[in-house]
Amino acid sequence: MKIELMVNGALRVVETHPMTRLLDLLRDDMNLKGCREGCGEGECGACAVIMDDCLVNACMIPSVQAAGSWILTVEGLGAPENPDTLQRAFVEEGAVHCGFCTPGMILAARALLQRNANPSREEVRVALSGTLCRCTGYNRIYAAVDRAVKNGYNPSGDRSCEDSPTGRPNFSDAEKNLFFSPGTLDEALRILGDHPDLLLLAGGTDTGPDVKNGNLNISEAMDIFGLKELRGIERRGSEIRIGGCVTDAELGESAVVAEYLPALREAALLSAGPAVRNRATIGGNLCTASGAADLPVALLALAGKVRLQSRKGQRVLPVEAFIKDYRKTDLRRGEILREIAVPISAGTQKFYKRGSRAALTLSRASLALFADVESGVVREFRAAAGSMSPIPTRLPKLEAALTGQALTPALIDRAVETITDELNPRKSAEYRKALGGNLVRRFLEAL
Ligand SMILES: Cc1cc2nc3c(=O)[nH]c(=O)nc-3n(C[C@H](O)[C@H](O)[C@H](O)COP(=O)(O)OP(=O)(O)OC[C@H]3O[C@@H](n4cnc5c(N)ncnc54)[C@H](O)[C@@H]3O)c2cc1C
Ligand code: FES
Ligand code: FES
Repeated sequence: MKIELMVNGALRVVETHPMTRLLDLLRDDMNLKGCREGCGEGECGACAVIMDDCLVNACMIPSVQAAGSWILTVEGLGAPENPDTLQRAFVEEGAVHCGFCTPGMILAARALLQRNANPSREEVRVALSGTLCRCTGYNRIYAAVDRAVKNGYNPSGDRSCEDSPTGRPNFSDAEKNLFFSPGTLDEALRILGDHPDLLLLAGGTDTGPDVKNGNLNISEAMDIFGLKELRGIERRGSEIRIGGCVTDAELGESAVVAEYLPALREAALLSAGPAVRNRATIGGNLCTASGAADLPVALLALAGKVRLQSRKGQRVLPVEAFIKDYRKTDLRRGEILREIAVPISAGTQKFYKRGSRAALTLSRASLALFADVESGVVREFRAAAGSMSPIPTRLPKLEAALTGQALTPALIDRAVETITDELNPRKSAEYRKALGGNLVRRFLEAL
């Protein structure tokens, strides 16, 4: 495959295999060794680069998805003899020890400062939370970002340039019937109809680790990440419509989601770190059908539905009917998860997540709760739990115990007993049951 991409302001034309990781393309073909390989599966941020103004982990991007993109690596900032203000601030604050994490840290800071010229300490902490440093200590790194801001560092994401890369890859004859990069959903559905076994590449944050760990070998694939029919968040009548390839980052930034679906926003913002959130899609999170997935938990409590499309037509299913078992969904051959529709409901909603550390953590337990209370009576109650069973599930006993009841201290005690009885986690059962009870009590007492 031949692709064009802009790297550090220069047009590059490269021949490579569609599934070659961007990390290898940068390091091996372009000799840009500032892009480091640590974990190779999205956990450490050592390979972070800025792609089309977003921080991404280059270890998780197949080259076919980098076609036509604008990439900034640490080499594009400044040279050792002429570092830019941010690089200089890292040196002046002593924020570099072994230096392994430093390019990723600097690019994570740069991606933040491109969007927010004067971030708070908390915003800096969140922006760097996906990049791990094992020897400097984060306070010096945060201080380096503060120093760069004080020194007037104000980078732009300006992509204006005379040369512009072509967006679509040029596949070789051998690749033409195996790899696809369609321009429209119709084209994608036609291709999928003819090649029903090919793998759909969305953000690649679930398939990337599977490939790295030898659990998946991708010999046929189609890139759907950029299809505009699968993007966008909008209010449509009494529903919020979310495209299948909307990312966690987009959910976290959307004013519509903040207003109508705050539990989903919370679930998106508590998922992974910033570079993963810039690629991880809501469709991928549903289609992976993992017990630890966060967004399905919120969608279950919000009565979300999925719209599936093939070239033959569309079907709509509630999320609970779509996720059938661990890593099994009702997605049929030839179908793409086109969008998610969530009804707008008056009421209070909340998503809770507990994991082993504050940032970049998979759920040990998650809970999403929705309640509509009027004149002291619970008119409607929906609840769902994650990481308690092989797949995220609704909690029908808890819902039945609360619906139609007056919200009193006695009812709250009964709700705690009911959820403790209803949750049936295989591991750390005592901890998870107690946690579920505490979270339900907190939610109901706040109401
Ligand atoms: C470091 C790290 C941390 C993570 N932390 C979290 C976390 O905290 N919470 C959490 O929930 N998840 C987490 N994940 C998992 C992952 O990021 C999410 O599941 C993500 O939403 C997957 O989306 P994707 O677009 O990357 O999926 P992909 O990997 O592209 O796809 C996953 C599967 O879904 C299929 N698919 C994708 N989109 C569609 C579609 N529209 N139609 C049909 N099939 C489709 C693909 O073919 C593939 O089989 C983490 C992953 C990593 C690497
Ligand atoms: S090498 Fe660790 S995130 Fe890419
Ligand atoms: S400076 Fe050594 S890992 Fe961060």
